Amino acid sequence: MIRIAVLGSTGSIGRSTLEVVARHPDRFQLVALTANRSVGTLGEQVRRFNVPVAVVADETAERPVSTAGVSWASGRSAVLDVAGRDDVDVVVNALVGAAGLEPTLRALSAGHRLALANKESLVAGGELVLRAARAGSADIVPIDSEHSAILQCLRGRDAASVHRIVLTASGGPFRGRNREDLERVQPSEALRHPTWDMGAKITIDSATLANKALEVVEARYLYDLDYDHIEAVVHPQSVIHSFVEFVDGSVLAQLGFPTMELPILYALSYPERVADRALRTFDPVEASPLTFEAVDHDAFPLFGLGVQAGRDGGASPAVFNAGNEVAVQAFLEGRIRFTEMADVVGEAMKRVGDHPVSSVQDVLDADAEARLVTSEAVDAR
Ligand SMILES: NC(=O)c1ccc[n+]([C@@H]2O[C@H](COP(=O)([O-])OP(=O)(O)OC[C@H]3O[C@@H](n4cnc5c(N)ncnc54)[C@H](OP(=O)(O)O)[C@@H]3O)[C@@H](O)[C@H]2O)c1
Repeated sequence: MIRIAVLGSTGSIGRSTLEVVARHPDRFQLVALTANRSVGTLGEQVRRFNVPVAVVADETAERPVSTAGVSWASGRSAVLDVAGRDDVDVVVNALVGAAGLEPTLRALSAGHRLALANKESLVAGGELVLRAARAGSADIVPIDSEHSAILQCLRGRDAASVHRIVLTASGGPFRGRNREDLERVQPSEALRHPTWDMGAKITIDSATLANKALEVVEARYLYDLDYDHIEAVVHPQSVIHSFVEFVDGSVLAQLGFPTMELPILYALSYPERVADRALRTFDPVEASPLTFEAVDHDAFPLFGLGVQAGRDGGASPAVFNAGNEVAVQAFLEGRIRFTEMADVVGEAMKRVGDHPVSSVQDVLDADAEARLVTSEAVDAR
């Protein structure tokens, strides 16, 4: 029995994780769930799965109706306690944003396998996260479908045999539009993703391609490749989840119809493979045609900005990530235009500048400064 804690169980990845667990009661057991404010949904989940521990991160959220046999707690430190519990084998980090960094570090330091959806924690705290994984002798198994694909293509192969990896990107709802067209797009249009059904923040990141930049940085840390050997290509059908090219020119890819339940199942059961009849069988004829396009850097400048932040290193990826979180929220609230998200993030990156990182506090400070500076840039518009 694999004992699982799900951080962010009420979100899109969290709910998909629970559906996977529900189909394999003989294999997986939920020991703790957390939400930010969705107390009602969390209550339903702990009742449905008989989970003994429930945590609400936001202390100002409504108080839960007491549920027999469930221990309720609240606050950020209670989320950290869940990540570090002794009775857990796998921590699923399905939180959104840099709020996931400290739980990621806590889970790894405790020696738990980290099934990581929260890419922002790896982007913001890259070296620190790898250090915590080494110190805790803990695995990070990605849930992002692209990184899961790469892991599956790489298994059992010598790292020196890899020439490059190519991450696929759906291109989002605005694929093919130019910068001028994008000036007037509304949040409701940006939230309509053509192939994936996800939380609001990652859906906007997919529309701007900031998500793909975060994934490039994530891949750099997960697979220890330098940025010259990590590329992205637009693949609108989201069937090929990524490619790995080896030094002899041979290319492996992992395919499947888009569903997050497959990479979630793989991350929970890794390195085993578990049969799951509920997952849609692949059919190459139905999946056809599979097409590819280059990334349009002019229309989607957040992609280049994010990769540059990764190349700059230090606190720059944390600054990009925090600035982007503020920009996404401001766009969703109608305070800035779609195209202004890149402008305010670029401004924040210039104003905050380079900072070395040697501790979590360095990352948190850079994150806080970037949020402040980006908010000022938003207010100035
Ligand atoms: N959705 C996907 O298909 C997908 C695919 C690949 C990677 N990812 C990554 O997975 C992560 C989660 O994405 P999602 O789409 O599942 O997000 P989501 O639907 O917005 O869910 C986020 C979850 O985290 C909780 N949460 C939000 N802010 C929090 C905070 N400050 N402290 C503690 N808990 C907080 C939310 O609780 P409440 O419900 O109470 O707000 C919810 O349970 C992101 O990093 C995303 O990039 C997602």
